[in-house]
Amino acid sequence: MEMIQFDQDRNLWVLQTENTAYAFGLSAEGALCHTYYGPRLPFLSDYPGARLYPEQSSFDCREGLSPEEYMSWCDSKYTEPCIKATFSDHTRDVVLKYAGFSAEGDSLSVTLRDAAYPLRVELRYRVAADCDLIEKSACVVNEGTEPVRLEQILSGSLFPARSDAYRLTSVSGKWAGEFQLRRAMLPDAKTVLESRRGTTSHGANPFVMLDENGSATETGGRVYVGALAYSGNWKITVEKTSFRMVKVCAGVNDFDFAWLLEPGASFTAPPFLIGYTEKGFGAASRMLHAYQLNHVLPAGHRGELRKVLYNSWEARLFDVNEEEQCRLADAAASLGIELFVMDDGWFGARDNDRAGLGDWFVNRRKFPNGLSKLIRHVNGLGMDFGLWVEPEMVNPDSDLYRRHPGWVYRFENRPGNLRRNQLVLNLAREDVRAYLYESMDRLLTENNIQFIKWDMNRNFSEPGYPEEAPEKQREIWVRHVEGLYGIVERLRAAHPGVLFQSCSGGGGRVDLGVLRRFDQVWASDNTNASDRLPIQEGFSYAYCAKVMESWVTGSSAPGTLPLEFRFHCAMTGNLGIGVDLFQWDDAQREKARALIAEYKQIRPIVQHGRQYRLMGTQGPLTAVSYVGAERDRAVLFAFWQHGRFGDRPLPVRLQGLDETALYEAEGYGRMSGKALMCVGLTPEFAGDPGSVLIRIEKV
Ligand code: DGJ
Repeated sequence: MEMIQFDQDRNLWVLQTENTAYAFGLSAEGALCHTYYGPRLPFLSDYPGARLYPEQSSFDCREGLSPEEYMSWCDSKYTEPCIKATFSDHTRDVVLKYAGFSAEGDSLSVTLRDAAYPLRVELRYRVAADCDLIEKSACVVNEGTEPVRLEQILSGSLFPARSDAYRLTSVSGKWAGEFQLRRAMLPDAKTVLESRRGTTSHGANPFVMLDENGSATETGGRVYVGALAYSGNWKITVEKTSFRMVKVCAGVNDFDFAWLLEPGASFTAPPFLIGYTEKGFGAASRMLHAYQLNHVLPAGHRGELRKVLYNSWEARLFDVNEEEQCRLADAAASLGIELFVMDDGWFGARDNDRAGLGDWFVNRRKFPNGLSKLIRHVNGLGMDFGLWVEPEMVNPDSDLYRRHPGWVYRFENRPGNLRRNQLVLNLAREDVRAYLYESMDRLLTENNIQFIKWDMNRNFSEPGYPEEAPEKQREIWVRHVEGLYGIVERLRAAHPGVLFQSCSGGGGRVDLGVLRRFDQVWASDNTNASDRLPIQEGFSYAYCAKVMESWVTGSSAPGTLPLEFRFHCAMTGNLGIGVDLFQWDDAQREKARALIAEYKQIRPIVQHGRQYRLMGTQGPLTAVSYVGAERDRAVLFAFWQHGRFGDRPLPVRLQGLDETALYEAEGYGRMSGKALMCVGLTPEFAGDPGSVLIRIEKV
C-alpha cells in the first residue's frame, strides 16, 4: 500500500492508512481543499476532486464555505482560521497560494506561499498507517527581510463528512476530578475547548471525538478523532456552520498570543493527530493507545514494562528523612515493590509548601548523608530509586528567589499572585533554563536515580516578562513549553536510563506532547477508587493504560472500599502503592503482596494489550478487559457498586477474543471465544462494593 498517492491530473493527494483514506486537492480556482475522510476506497479515481462550495450570496465567498485545508484569515472567510498575521506594512491578512509539494514514504509536505509577501507555509503530514491515524502540522517561514507578527498559527483542521448532525465527545473536569466524560450534540455554533492556564489543564484535555448523528457506540459507528500534542495553552474549536460543514481546528491558543517571526526564522506548530474508524469509540481509543505504544512514548523505554512503584507522599507528606524513608523502603520491598519514589520534602528548607522550591539541594538535616545512604539502601533491597521534583516553580522563601527575584513571570506593578505559595519561573529565559538543566543534571549525575516525578502545582498568572522587548512578551506561553520540552529532552539524552513521569497536581499535564517526552503520567490526585473509576474511564478515551500511573492508597474512607477493590482499580493501569504502609496490618500486607504478585503476571496484557471498555461507570457494574496481542490471554476486571432494588450483575460480554478458540476463564469454566463474546460472563461479587479479576487463557 502506498501511504501517499498523488493524482496528477486532478492535483489530488490521498493519504492512506490500513483502513482509512484522507484526501485533499487543488480546486480549479487554486484553493487547497479537503475532499474526503473515511474508509479506504478501491481506486484513486474514487476519491472526489477538490471543488469549491457553490456561492450562496454576496455575504459568503466560495472559499469561506469550503473546507480549506489550511485556511488563512483573508477575503470573506469567517470560520476559524489556521493562520492570522500582520506584515510590517500593517497589512493584516495572509493570502496563501499553492507552491509545490514533496512526498517520501509516510511523509508529505505541501508548500503554500503568500501571494504578495515573502511568507511560506509548509503543511506537513505523517501517516501512522498501522494505527489509522495521520499527524498534521504546519511550519511558517519568514523568507523576507522584515519581521512578521503571527497572531494565530494552528496545527491544522479536520473535516468530518458533511452531515446534518454530529455529537461531540470530550472530557472536562477540575483538580481531583479530571477526565469526566462529556457528550453533546453539536449546536450550529462554535464550541471551544481550551486551556489558558499555561499547561494542558485539569479542566479540559486536548482531544475530541465526533460521531455522526450521535449514533456511535463503544463497538460500532463512525467516529472521527482529533488530538493535539501540546502541553501549554491550546485550543480546539469545533464549528458547525449553517452550510452543514463541521470544522475542527487545533493548535496553540491565540489567547494573549503573539509571535514576532524574525527574518529567516520559522515557527512550527505542534502535531495535530486525526483519525477515523467505523468501529465505534472503543476502536477509536485503541487507535490512540496503539499510536502511543508504537510511535509516541520515548523510544528508550517504550517496550519495557513499567515497574510497580511505591510513593511516599501520602504516608509522610513533607516529613521525609533518611531513617523513616529507609523503613518505608523495607516495608515496600517486602511487598514486592520494584521502584521506591521519595516525593516532596527532601530538598532546601522544605518542611511545608511555603519554602524551598527552587533550591534543588538535599536537606542535610533530614538527609545527613545526602541521598546516597537512602539510595544504597533502596538499591540493596532490589528496588530502583525515584525522586520528586517541581523544577518550574519557586517559593519566594527560597535562596533561588532571594538571588533572582527577576526569574519569575510578573507584571512590575502588580503583586504576584501566590498559588500554593509559589511563583512560576520564566522558562523563556536562557539563564533559567540553564539553571534548571544543571540542577536536574547534577542530581541525576551524583545519585543513582532511575525515575523522576516532574510536578507542577499551579497555573500561570501575571505572565509578564519585563526584560523582554514589548513585542515579544506574549511569546512566553510557547517559549515556556519549548523550555520544558528542551530541558527534559536534554536530560533524557544525558541520562537515558531514567524514566520520567509528568504530574501537575494530578492530571493537569497529560497530553500527546508530554507523552513524547515522559514515560508515564499521574492521572489525578484523587485516589479514591470509587471516584477513580470514572476518571480512568475518561482518561482511557485518549490515553493508554501503560502510561496511567494509579495508586492504592488509604483514601476512600477505609473500610468502605475493600482492599481488593482498590487494588483492582489501580491494576487496570500502571500499579503503584501510595498508602502509609505502617497502617496496614499483617493480613492486609499479605493480601497486598499477593495482589502485587498477580499484577506482575498480568501486566504484560494490561500494559501492552488492547483495552476494551465493556461496561461504563454510569451503572452499578463497571467492566474493562485487556486482551494480549496474540488473543491467547485476557484479563477482565469487574466492579460492583451501589446495586439497588436487589439487582444482580448482568453478564459481561467480552470483546476482541478469537471466536473459534477455547478459553478457560479462571473460576468460571471453559467457553469458546465466541461464547465469551456473545453469552458473556456474569461476575460474582463477595459484596457491594465488590470487584473481581478474572484471568482468561486459551486452552
Ligand atoms: C501534587 C502531586 O499530585 C502529589 O502526588 C504530590 O507529589 C504533591 N504534589 C507534592 O507536593
